[in-house]
Amino acid sequence: MSPVRAVKQSKPPAAGREYQPYLEAAWGFKNHWYPALFSHELPEGTLRGVTIAGHEIALRRAKGKVYALSDECAHRGVRISARQMCLNDDHLTCWYHGFCYGLEDGVLKTVVGSPKDPLIGKVRIRTYPVEERATIIFIFVGDEDYQPLPPLTSDLPIRITDDPNPTPYLLDDDLFICGIHGTAKSNWRLGAENGFDPGHVLIHWDNAIVAATDSFIPLGFHPTSPDSIKVIDEPNGPKGLMNMYNAGGYELITENQVAGIKSRGRNHHYVRTSFYLPGCLLVEHWPLTNWAVYGWFVPTDDQHHEYWDIAFGVCHTEEERKEAQFKHEKMFKPLHFEDFYSNDIFAREQMERFYRERDGWNREQLCELDTVVVAWRKLASRFNRGIQAPPAGRNSPS
Ligand code: FES
Ligand SMILES: [Fe+2]
Repeated sequence: MSPVRAVKQSKPPAAGREYQPYLEAAWGFKNHWYPALFSHELPEGTLRGVTIAGHEIALRRAKGKVYALSDECAHRGVRISARQMCLNDDHLTCWYHGFCYGLEDGVLKTVVGSPKDPLIGKVRIRTYPVEERATIIFIFVGDEDYQPLPPLTSDLPIRITDDPNPTPYLLDDDLFICGIHGTAKSNWRLGAENGFDPGHVLIHWDNAIVAATDSFIPLGFHPTSPDSIKVIDEPNGPKGLMNMYNAGGYELITENQVAGIKSRGRNHHYVRTSFYLPGCLLVEHWPLTNWAVYGWFVPTDDQHHEYWDIAFGVCHTEEERKEAQFKHEKMFKPLHFEDFYSNDIFAREQMERFYRERDGWNREQLCELDTVVVAWRKLASRFNRGIQAPPAGRNSPS
């Protein structure tokens, strides 16, 4: 008689074990700096609303300075940015009944139709720290009382120093910066994991920029040692991971005979990728040697993120700027920001249904290609400054 054997259970859910905080961060990590708008999107005297990690934020520029305040009017809750009413340079004015909040402190300074109202001076909406650098408006999103305020540089990629011909740093002088941002219908984590996943190189295999430059792209990067990924942990500085493609940590897969495919392209173009909290990708020497790309994955709510993709290079002279503009219009924009990047957005949005509706965080079957994805989940779980809770009244399935 054969012994009764227990039916082997399917693998226990992956959720949990080593990166539980990451799995709980459907609305993003709080107490980090995030890009909100390009500077040119907020001209003098205007008002715009953004949503970051569930925080609805009104951005207002007055006398050149950018202010960020809660976009929910304390009176009856409308989004203040839904209509522009900029009466002077000192207030954020709600278009509905005229509550006027001080730009510096968010305190109710007057009510347009009730100038002696007892609420004046007693009601306030919260404010957010803002930094405008490198043509981008950054906001520190999270707890209002979070102290000390970390520097913006702690949430940006590191400055590259180990390359004899390094790509520039975003806060350098004399940069030409171009880029895009837009909304993708996927959770921010799927965006981040797509951005930093060396295993997804296959979706770029036949892209126009690869064909046009005859660039070699492997079919995959197979990690061969623990040295394939370097942890970046700078005191009071960036926390991230760097893929050591060129330091012997990876075997580059160039052919798969079973699948009947070979990589193509003759130009071996040196590129290196790294990724930083709260969700910023650095690609060195892309789209061209000496240029850099930063890509952010900014949580909007639990089902959308704002993708940012910028490219920048050093330009000291007007002639160099003109040439960079030419490259942007004729190459970066059509081939990188539009064609190349659309493949990434497509992939992220395709993953969303599985992870949101079909228990994907527990059902995914990660393979060796995903070593980096898992490393990122662990790093993010360890170094984040807090998990953003859903806004009141909103639940988060994943
Ligand atoms: S809702 Fe804003 S002033 Fe009434
Ligand atoms: Fe990609």
